[in-house]
Amino acid sequence: MSRIAPAEDSNIALAAGALRRGELVSFPTETVYGLGGDATNDRAVAAIYAAKGRPSFNPLIVHVPTLAAARTLGDFSDDAVKLAKAFWPGPLTLVVKRARACPLSLLVSAGMDSVALRIPAHPVAQALLTASNLPLAGPSANPSGRISPTTAQHVADGLGYKVAMILDGGPCRIGVESTVLSLLDGKPALLRPGGIAPDDITAVIGKPVAIAAPIGDVEAGLHGPGRLLSHYAPDRPVRLGATAVLPGEALLAFGPSVPAAKVVLNLSASGDLHEAAANLFAMLRALDRPDVTGIAIMPIPQVGLGIAINDRLTRAAAPR
Ligand code: TXA
Ligand code: MG
Repeated sequence: MSRIAPAEDSNIALAAGALRRGELVSFPTETVYGLGGDATNDRAVAAIYAAKGRPSFNPLIVHVPTLAAARTLGDFSDDAVKLAKAFWPGPLTLVVKRARACPLSLLVSAGMDSVALRIPAHPVAQALLTASNLPLAGPSANPSGRISPTTAQHVADGLGYKVAMILDGGPCRIGVESTVLSLLDGKPALLRPGGIAPDDITAVIGKPVAIAAPIGDVEAGLHGPGRLLSHYAPDRPVRLGATAVLPGEALLAFGPSVPAAKVVLNLSASGDLHEAAANLFAMLRALDRPDVTGIAIMPIPQVGLGIAINDRLTRAAAPR
């Protein structure tokens, strides 16, 4: 028996009850599925780290329903308010200083004095936030280091009975995680590329956005504790920038002209980066089959959502 439940009102009410008891519920967002727990409850937050096998130095995103709710948890500078008004609800996570009387578990911040906040745009996530009346800690609902989930079935495959319920809201529209932007010390810094591009951020606050240290360089500061190089990893090795396949490889294609291969999936035959992002994680999973020796991936243009896609692919290909 699976714990997948259609995201209808009665199940959202049951899920909200489970969250209030400190249990974990997976819920859909417009980016990927989240592993939700009461962000004010140390026990629930600890259970999230345990379920994911996530290192406790890597803090979690907290989901809130409104900007007013966010402002009770973190200090919002003028830039933070402008960005929240421009992009929330949506795929932007803001890292700000914890508010003085912040009721959140210190564990969600991994002991730091900052917190990552976002208002998700998915109606089911919004309904769950309202019904539970809780800020919800919500990392992506996958075992740490593995491919993020974009369907309820992906969550069941990876975390199964570690959650009380998986609310099924269908496949995620965007398909890659939110942009994570630090606003600490008044210096905007991109910690993770995602659905919102640095140029869009600069357009709103009129300031350049520093790009955080090269991925994998966790020591380099810029408050990017989650920037571990190996991540999003399929079991099979991944080869980037492929223009042909090697014997035994499956091909993850992009665009209209595709080299010959026995096993092929195309992220977007028309070369559309939004379509490619939405397909990315599901297709990586589908090609991660015992009968292939590796996954060859065609080049993806380094523009717009392509930057987030290439970030995830670089990490999928990184040494483990
Ligand atoms: O799209 C998303 O953001 C999804 C959905 C479910 O909302 N969530 C997600 O959460 O991807 P997670 O925990 O897998 O990624 C959170 C990222 C990590 O890279 C983490 O290191 C960073 O945000 N982060 C969280 N809190 C932080 C903080 N206080 N300072 C710096 N980085 C932080
Ligand atoms: Mg994740």
